[in-house]
Amino acid sequence: MARFLCKLDDIADGEARAFGPFDGGRTKAFVVRKGEHIHAYWDACPHYGDTPMAWRTDAYLNAAGDRIVCASHGAEFEIETGRCLLGAALGKSLRPAPIEATANGELVLKG
Ligand code: FES
Repeated sequence: MARFLCKLDDIADGEARAFGPFDGGRTKAFVVRKGEHIHAYWDACPHYGDTPMAWRTDAYLNAAGDRIVCASHGAEFEIETGRCLLGAALGKSLRPAPIEATANGELVLKG
């Protein structure tokens, strides 16, 4: 089953957007748009206890917009892979979220 989240064009190129929480829990997911591609992760920093990463709604990127950043201790993650490149979560990665862009330009949560 797939749950509609939004249209791809509802997210500006290079921006991030949060969705959820899902399944009655407190865990959100977020998407970073890069052109026609998206990269989706659970909003849970691997550094410490699945901490939510944004300091305000949709604030998942650094000032340059080229890395995902955790507001708690500043760990930076590669947008394309979720791998930590700098800071407190080195050696760890964000967990991918099952969000896909469909052929007709919709973002859906799978499963
Ligand atoms: S909780 Fe994210 S860097 Fe520490």
